Amino acid sequence: MRRILVWIASLALATGVAYAQGELEIFSWWAGDEGPALEALIDLFEQQNPGIEVINATVTGGSGVNARAVLKTRMLGGDPPDSFQVHAGQELIGTWVAAQRMEDITFLFEEEGFFDAFPPGLVDLISTEEGTWSVPVNIHRSNVMWYVPAKLEEWGVEAPATWDDFLAICPTLQAAGVTPIVVGENWTQQHLWESVALAVLGTDDYAALWTGELSFTDPKATAVWDTFGQILDCSNEDAAGLSWQQATDRVVNGTAAFNVMGDWAAGYMVTTLGLEPGTGFAWQASPGTSGTFMMLADAFGLPEGIANRDAAVAWLRLLGSKEGQDTFNPLKGSISARLDSDLDMYNAYSRSAAADWQNDAIVGSLVHGAVAKEAFMSEFATVMEIFLASRSGEQAANAAQAIANQVGLGR
Ligand code: GAL
Repeated sequence: MRRILVWIASLALATGVAYAQGELEIFSWWAGDEGPALEALIDLFEQQNPGIEVINATVTGGSGVNARAVLKTRMLGGDPPDSFQVHAGQELIGTWVAAQRMEDITFLFEEEGFFDAFPPGLVDLISTEEGTWSVPVNIHRSNVMWYVPAKLEEWGVEAPATWDDFLAICPTLQAAGVTPIVVGENWTQQHLWESVALAVLGTDDYAALWTGELSFTDPKATAVWDTFGQILDCSNEDAAGLSWQQATDRVVNGTAAFNVMGDWAAGYMVTTLGLEPGTGFAWQASPGTSGTFMMLADAFGLPEGIANRDAAVAWLRLLGSKEGQDTFNPLKGSISARLDSDLDMYNAYSRSAAADWQNDAIVGSLVHGAVAKEAFMSEFATVMEIFLASRSGEQAANAAQAIANQVGLGR
């Protein structure tokens, strides 16, 4: 290894080209079952950058619930990782960009042609008037309902087009000893909530919640909690102790009929469980949301004051490239964020998501950082606790509006 490093260093001197070297710490929550896509990308990076050793630092916990807290400590303590996973949109911009802890990477977008490679709406999501702040590695869809076709046939039900249809088959499934819809820990319940909100409010009013144009206490918005409560009455009682993978397992093994989860569930079912899309599992837009794609994107940026800036820039270059994205996404369940992705490399689920991404109306996910400042999305866990404890839509709505006012949601 040392000999290779010396060789690269002398090559760099001879050619005048700066090759990045040393260690590169990548920080994310893609641990264990969530790891294969990132690991494939790191392997590719190490092949292309033999002088760099990647430290794959992970903090387990779906949707970054634990990683975000560790990241905060490190950022505030002056010990930023060289690059970290963050959701494209307000999660990064409202926190670390606002706190001037990120470097503007407009230069990289220009050098690599990323401004033309990504859809304009996505470039807007990761940019402010002051600059461009992250490289999106994928597009995930939040509003997806998963099920196993053979099981539905066995129980004599169909995948519900609306939540009313779901509530109508709930007693049939319960009578068969099946959980109609499985949910897991708090954030997965918020995840279900955002899909229910989209169904109840429709695309425009859902979007208006995040700009502040529609108040959480408006009767239209409180109606979301009513429907949500009825759906939870058809769910499992041990939700708090389940990870999203364990919730997915219940659909796969037939103890639950449906779950609503982002399409990392497709990555898990294909890459980890070895199931075939279409037969091993099937999908549809979550009830009442067909024609709308609720998106989120994982992204990485360039923190200020890091140990190895050259290596981090090389990492971001690969992340945004066609090859990088088409290595990562077929394993992850997401689609490439680029316009020129090679769809032959993707399975039937991902190809259907890619078609919907082209044709559907687009809105952003709350739980996964696209539409609201981190301060609001973190506190939404408390709103959910309030609802679960009180089952009062009014109390939950008041709490949500109070937090929105406090953090200046939409401003
Ligand atoms: C999301 C993230 C996905 C996946 C998921 C479950 O927030 O964007 O890539 O990791 O959480 O942990």
